[in-house]
Amino acid sequence: MFFFTLVYLLFVTPGYCQSCNTSADDGFGIGTRTLPPAANVSTAPPTGPYRVGVTFETYCFQDRGLTLSFWYPATPEETASPYVSTGGIVGKAVQDAPIDPAGGPYPLILFSSGLAAVNDAYYFYLQNLASNGYVVVSTQHLDARNANTTSVPAYSALAALDAAAGNTNDAVVELYTEWFRETQFALTYRPQEIEFAIDQALAENNDPSSRFHRTIDADKIGMTGHSLGGFYTNVVGGGMPLYCDYIMRPDQLNPNNGILADVSPCAFSTCQGLPSPSALHDSRIKAIVGLAAPSFLTKTQIARSAAPIIIPNMILTGDNFTSETTAWIQRAIYDNTAGPSHWVKVAKTNHYLVADSYLLNPVLSANMGAADKENFLDKAAVYMTYSAAFFNYYLKGNGSNYAILTEKSSSFVKELEFRNFDGGS
Ligand SMILES: *[C@@H]1O[C@H](CO)[C@@H](O)[C@H](O)[C@H]1NC(C)=O
Ligand SMILES: *[C@@H]1O[C@H](CO)[C@@H](O)[C@H](O)[C@H]1NC(C)=O
Ligand SMILES: *[C@@H]1O[C@H](CO)[C@@H](O)[C@H](O)[C@H]1NC(C)=O
Ligand SMILES: *[C@@H]1O[C@H](CO)[C@@H](O)[C@H](O)[C@H]1NC(C)=O
Ligand SMILES: *[C@@H]1O[C@H](CO)[C@@H](O)[C@H](O)[C@H]1NC(C)=O
Repeated sequence: MFFFTLVYLLFVTPGYCQSCNTSADDGFGIGTRTLPPAANVSTAPPTGPYRVGVTFETYCFQDRGLTLSFWYPATPEETASPYVSTGGIVGKAVQDAPIDPAGGPYPLILFSSGLAAVNDAYYFYLQNLASNGYVVVSTQHLDARNANTTSVPAYSALAALDAAAGNTNDAVVELYTEWFRETQFALTYRPQEIEFAIDQALAENNDPSSRFHRTIDADKIGMTGHSLGGFYTNVVGGGMPLYCDYIMRPDQLNPNNGILADVSPCAFSTCQGLPSPSALHDSRIKAIVGLAAPSFLTKTQIARSAAPIIIPNMILTGDNFTSETTAWIQRAIYDNTAGPSHWVKVAKTNHYLVADSYLLNPVLSANMGAADKENFLDKAAVYMTYSAAFFNYYLKGNGSNYAILTEKSSSFVKELEFRNFDGGS
């Protein structure tokens, strides 16, 4: 029995990882900063018809453990206790519940979290997509518990000045200067982790021993991501090219330039080594939702790089000038994509709201504006309503979501716009 168990573990279990040490990724925090979890705080309930399960798988990737969380339509026992996230948030998902085959196969949605955010920090957002009939895969990116803020006071000071001026895009790059310099704006690991996560989900779909066997529709893949994950949603999912053919100043091409926000990705070897500007594009992805996505591109290049995005795109963001990703950068993407484009701005909302584990964390939230923390359920509803309607419309082809996508659902929808969207499906 022992022998067979061992053989099974070594050769059969998908992604079983013998040599990886995953303990560094354990626990809750923001990058290297450990935070005490909230004391089992309830999050916003999901809106869809399915009940939800969540399960975790750790794989070996780049010689380390990489954990994926899967959120999916499920049939848990009525009495089962809900999963408590590492951040101490309680929702409706039941860990390891049986998958509900009734509505399958389900489209797949890849979720990429923000810089320094753990994979289960977006409880309401992830469980809501699953409750609407999607298998959602969230990645524990390398930065989740490894990214650190700068130790150079001048960079921190610059970041504070930029944030106060609404240039939060550059502020984050400056605050994490060493991390972003060493990882070349995360190009050395994020696109690879995203590809790995999609490949693993599809492998589970093909594996008779997996709970996800034949539950995923491999032709219907969407991607959504928050913050840094939103940038990579545009690059990997949308095919946003990293052009290096324009005239650059020496400081833009110097990877050691002190002000990293001025440096182009083209200064780094990973970007230079790409076979083409859009080599990171994964054409399996058919629709994308970027939550407060920043951009590392030279500012004059953003509109040009948005133009080749031909798949449907939604931008969903808060409105806090100093505590949400710079609006004009997101707007430049919205205004210039070739395909259908949707714009939703949530009122009185900061960068953390969609990540309930951070917004509702007692330590982190102590520094947040009071108005941004009020009416959490109403604001969460905006994120849930429009992200689900978008994927229902574009991945499932459910035309009755047209009305949702064209109407303000509550007074917390500050702006709602769309382009190249005629309602014909
Ligand atoms: C795994 O990594 C953690 C954190 O880096 C470390 O404390 C621990 O000793 C390591 N365990 C092994 C078996 O190497
Ligand atoms: C939170 O819930 C978990 C699981 O039900 C329980 O083990 C833990 O003690 C609770 N923590 C607090 C602070 O109430
Ligand atoms: C952050 O990590 C890098 C290595 O990844 C290290 O060089 C730097 O000293 C660290 N900074 C702090 C403030 O811990
Ligand atoms: C935006 O966020 C900052 C920092 O959390 C907060 O001090 C400020 O009050 C917020 N702004 C508004 C308009 O709520
Ligand atoms: C289409 O979407 C609407 C609105 O979300 C929902 O009520 C309806 O059940 C969906 N239809 C199908 C066939 O899933």
